[in-house]
Amino acid sequence: MTQQPAPTHSYNTRRPSNDAAHERDRLESIQRSVDTFTTNILDGLPIQTSWNCLELGAGAGSIARWLAARCPDGRVVAVDLDTRHLNAGPATHLEIQEADITHKDYAPGTFDLIHARYLFCHLPGRDEMIARAAGWLSPGGWLVIEEPYDLPAATSPYPLIQRILTAYQHIYRENGADMTWARSMPALLARNALTEVAYAGNLGRMGGLEKDRWRPLIHGVAPALLASGLITDTDLAEFDELLKDPAFIDIPQMTISAWGRRP
Ligand SMILES: C[S@@+](CC[C@H](N)C(=O)[O-])C[C@H]1O[C@@H](n2cnc3c(N)ncnc32)[C@H](O)[C@@H]1O
Repeated sequence: MTQQPAPTHSYNTRRPSNDAAHERDRLESIQRSVDTFTTNILDGLPIQTSWNCLELGAGAGSIARWLAARCPDGRVVAVDLDTRHLNAGPATHLEIQEADITHKDYAPGTFDLIHARYLFCHLPGRDEMIARAAGWLSPGGWLVIEEPYDLPAATSPYPLIQRILTAYQHIYRENGADMTWARSMPALLARNALTEVAYAGNLGRMGGLEKDRWRPLIHGVAPALLASGLITDTDLAEFDELLKDPAFIDIPQMTISAWGRRP
C-alpha cells in the first residue's frame, strides 16, 4: 500500500497554529510575486467606484484591499476557508467571510467583479464553480480567474530542481489539485456565455537571489515533500545553498489569468 502524504495546505484543512507562520510567509510570497501582474489586469477593466466585488479565496487579502480602495462607494466581500491571515485594513466596506466557497451561495447578479487567484486549481468541481461564479455576476460584470500552470519538472536545467519540483507537483496532485487546468479557463468562460474573453500569462521565478519567490513555497510544504519520499533533507539543504548562487535561475510555473464579461 502506498503511503499518502498528509494534507498540508489550508485549502482543505485547518493547519495547526505552529504552521501559521509558514502559511503567512507563503501567502505573502504569493502576493509579492504576482500582485502587480494581477492589478495590471484589473486596471484594464472599466472599474467604477460604486462596484460590488467578490474576492474568492482571498488569502492574506492584498487584492481584496486593493479592490476596496478602488471601489470606495461599493462593497467588497472577501471569502476564505481560513481567515486567520485576512484583515480588512481601514476599509469599512470590506466584509470578511469565513466559508467554503463550494458550499456558499450568493444571489444571482450580485457582483460587478469577481476575482480569484490560485483557488480553482484546488477545488473539486472547478468547472462547475466557474458556472456558479458567472451566475453571481450582474449584467456587464467581469469574472477574472488566475491559476497556476506547472511547467514539466523534468525540463528544469537543474537535476536537484527536477527532483524538488517532481515532489512538489506530486503532493499537490495527491491533494486533488490540478496545476494544468488553467489552460481550459478561456474555453470555460466562453462556454458559460461570458464575452470579451481574454487571457495573459506571467512566468514564475525561482532563484535570482532576492528576486526568488519560491523558497517560501517549497519550505512551506517541506514536511509533505519529505513524506512523499521523493526528496530528502539533504535536497532541501542543497536547494538553500543553490539559492545563494547568483547564476541560479529557473521557471517552475506560470500563472494564466483569464477574464470575461457577462453580457
Ligand atoms: C494559494 S492561496 C491564494 C491566496 C490568494 N488568492 C492570493 O493569491 O494571494 C489559496 C487560498 O484559497 C483558500 N481556499 C482554498 N479552498 C477554499 C474553499 N473551498 N473555499 C474558500 N477558500 C478556499 C485557502 O484557504 C487559501 O487562502
